[in-house]
Amino acid sequence: MQKKLLLSFIFPVLLFSCNSTRKNANRPVSINPYQYTIQKRVTAANGAVVSAHALASKTGVNILKKGGNAFDAAIATQFALAVVYPNAGNLGGGGFLVGRRSNGELIAIDYREKAPGNAHRDMYVEADGTARTDKSQDGHLASGVPGTVSGLFESMKYAKLPVKDLIQPAIDLAEKGFAISEREAKALNSLQDELKRYNSMMPAFVKTLPWKTGDTLVQTDLANSLKRIRDRGAAGFYEGETARLIVEEMKRGGGIISYDDLKNYKAKLRAPHTFYYKGYQVVGMPMPSSGGVLLHQMMKMIEERNIASMGFHSLQAVQLMTEVQKRAFADRGEYMGDADHYKVPVDLITSEVYLRDKMKNYVPGKATPGTEIKPGFLQRTESEETTHLSVIDKEGNAVAVTTTLNNSYGSRTVVGGGGFFLNDEMDDFSIKPGVPNMYGAIGGEANSIKPGKRMLSSMTPTLVLKDNKPYLVVGTPGGTTIPTQIFQTLVNILEFNMSTTDAVYKPKFHHQWVPDTLQVEKGFPQPVWKGLEKMGYILHQRSGIGRTEIIKILPDGKFEAVADTRGDDAAEGY
Ligand code: DON
Repeated sequence: MQKKLLLSFIFPVLLFSCNSTRKNANRPVSINPYQYTIQKRVTAANGAVVSAHALASKTGVNILKKGGNAFDAAIATQFALAVVYPNAGNLGGGGFLVGRRSNGELIAIDYREKAPGNAHRDMYVEADGTARTDKSQDGHLASGVPGTVSGLFESMKYAKLPVKDLIQPAIDLAEKGFAISEREAKALNSLQDELKRYNSMMPAFVKTLPWKTGDTLVQTDLANSLKRIRDRGAAGFYEGETARLIVEEMKRGGGIISYDDLKNYKAKLRAPHTFYYKGYQVVGMPMPSSGGVLLHQMMKMIEERNIASMGFHSLQAVQLMTEVQKRAFADRGEYMGDADHYKVPVDLITSEVYLRDKMKNYVPGKATPGTEIKPGFLQRTESEETTHLSVIDKEGNAVAVTTTLNNSYGSRTVVGGGGFFLNDEMDDFSIKPGVPNMYGAIGGEANSIKPGKRMLSSMTPTLVLKDNKPYLVVGTPGGTTIPTQIFQTLVNILEFNMSTTDAVYKPKFHHQWVPDTLQVEKGFPQPVWKGLEKMGYILHQRSGIGRTEIIKILPDGKFEAVADTRGDDAAEGY
């Protein structure tokens, strides 16, 4: 399947502060998929895209130059990511879009995967009570019904260009191939055994000799799947040949997604979850993502505590933010799930009285034991691989999209003849009460498996508006660390007044109540680490947390787009 080409691939170059004032800068440029550079920060006057891959970001900016708006660019970028970033970009997964239209309308599009019609509550629990996380995490049974393609067509309602213009760059990238980076070569090499284990028809990613930096990845089957979408719209995926290929793949590997499951999948337009923080309007994803509500809870629990005076990475600020993270996560497992199937008490758990009450046992300088933090008491009358992209245009449209296959390369199963990975999102359900998922998140009834139900997510695509105009467009992958990362990025900018690059690049930390450990990134200040230990925290250093992509609107109206240095992520603008 792979075409071996001699390439002149240039190692990604980091270019800082690239102002696009060149002649003809407003015309779409032809993208060379065998030779490209990675920019980590750009400022631009007309529009910007920041995503996990330079070729995808460049595709998005070309669409803006062609007269598309931020929704067009977000769609084209996602199609391109499905080709150039198979770890998480996808056709076989799902995602969320939070958007602001130029007329001020705020929207959220939910294209989260769903449990198949034949799924049932205890499908991963054996007769002796053993929870089979292996089956919820890898292989055919791990997949929920994919939502991405339906979500992209729901997004088309806000776009200007025809879908054929938005999908063609992705078709070309799949058909003609692109040069892979060192990071991608390494990832594909480490995946070879699993690919052979979970596939009966060998996909384009399987190779006899190891992948090398600059090798061309050609994906002919994927190009054909994309062409069917171009020609037939969402039905080109959910019906006909591609649906048939998915169902056949399911049969080969003991999966349960049926033709009807596919045909009936529909993305949902939802009202975003919004709140105000010191005059800024924060616009986030509602259920079935916990992201918007967790962010709301954490921001409100610090709002009255003058965190700015404590300072970035000060012992006091880190401790306060850690305690706030623990308290929010205690509610996640208990109350959160797909609100179409379970009554989630959103208003109550985000109310001022409730959040103030939750902070009553917070003692500065002392770790609150996990056992003393419970899901809050409700006065009622009657539960790592994803990718984020941020896009903005000069008309005032702003789009934050996070999509996922769940962990890297999803279920590791590629649809035979279809050329795309299927997700392993079923693991985001609580497969058995109290059994942690791959991110250590626990849950119960609220997030139990039910046919047609969407699994709870942590994805937190977010907009921050100032005076009703876009100010920040932000998001990140990272499983349960997603809401706590966005929390830190917002606090870094809104409270500590940090530069956008520092706000993203400086080490982050994460606590999710259970397990009772504070995870910190390399470079976290040692004196703070020691100080926290003295207060009673258990700290643990871990690998990089997330890959944040952010756009900030500068006082002169220009866009500053910043891509995370934790990956190959790239910012483009013009
Ligand atoms: O929806 C969720 O919360 C997870 N499936 C996200 C997974 C993720 O971010 C993995 N990335 N590193």
